[in-house]
Amino acid sequence: MPIELKGKTAIVTGGSRGIGRDVCRKLAQFGARVSVSYQSRQAEARELKEEIQANGGEAITVRGDVRLEETFERLFQQTREELGPIDIVVGNAGIWKRAPIDEMEGEQWQETIDVNLKSIFWLCRFAARDMKSRRSGNIILVGSTAGQRGEAFHSHYAASKGAIHAFTKSLAAELGPEGIRVNCVAPGWVETDMTSECFSNPKFRESVRQATPLRQIASSEQIASAVLFLASDLASHVQGEILNVNGGSVLCG
Ligand SMILES: NC(=O)c1ccc[n+]([C@@H]2O[C@H](COP(=O)([O-])OP(=O)(O)OC[C@H]3O[C@@H](n4cnc5c(N)ncnc54)[C@H](OP(=O)(O)O)[C@@H]3O)[C@@H](O)[C@H]2O)c1
Repeated sequence: MPIELKGKTAIVTGGSRGIGRDVCRKLAQFGARVSVSYQSRQAEARELKEEIQANGGEAITVRGDVRLEETFERLFQQTREELGPIDIVVGNAGIWKRAPIDEMEGEQWQETIDVNLKSIFWLCRFAARDMKSRRSGNIILVGSTAGQRGEAFHSHYAASKGAIHAFTKSLAAELGPEGIRVNCVAPGWVETDMTSECFSNPKFRESVRQATPLRQIASSEQIASAVLFLASDLASHVQGEILNVNGGSVLCG
């Protein structure tokens, strides 16, 4: 069965860079109209839109902070008006900031929880309202190996990602009977702006490579391919799955 997303409309949060940008590219490559949600990188978001359009696709960009309900109100409204009813949403926007627990301020905790997790609540609430009325839809959330095994000095990040995994399973049970699929992709280390500082240290890079059975560090395109699979009809009976894309670095179900 070939992958075909022609006629579908997708929203991708954090679409301006890294994993989100490659998710936008992949979905557009297979025919979806793409709404690129971003916060600060206007030039990058615009460039991506123009790239998709130059390749014969349809895309818009919508700016906003994913912590806020009003961002999603605008994102969904503008996407519906300009691209049509929403079939696929990808909750990808996120931050990863180091904070030892004894030094972590309440604001630091809250920022990570709000950007990584509250954004997923808003996205899914708005998506469910649209998708339930049409009895169809596809929700894909981006988790992390940190949500499975924890992560020292990033406990707030790991907690937000573990919660996304539990949220995925909850909504899979709740929304499956409404014709809505809900799944999650859990990447390990990926080469993006988020990790560029860590990977600029060759010793660290090699230690990550050695700790990964496939002996490679993922590209954002490899993560986007897993999202594409879940967005496609190839995954038509996949529900509540936490799809590990980590080269075998964390071996769990
Ligand atoms: N990289 C990894 O190793 C890795 C591993 C596991 C999981 N992940 C997860 O994968 C997802 C994408 O990560 P990445 O590596 O691609 O990150 P990235 O390159 O740092 O990009 C982050 C994206 O999130 C957006 N964003 C951040 N804060 C936002 C806010 N308050 N409101 C709206 N948008 C916001 C950014 O928008 P602007 O560009 O406009 O600022 C950007 O598009 C994240 O959820 C991350 O936790 C990454």
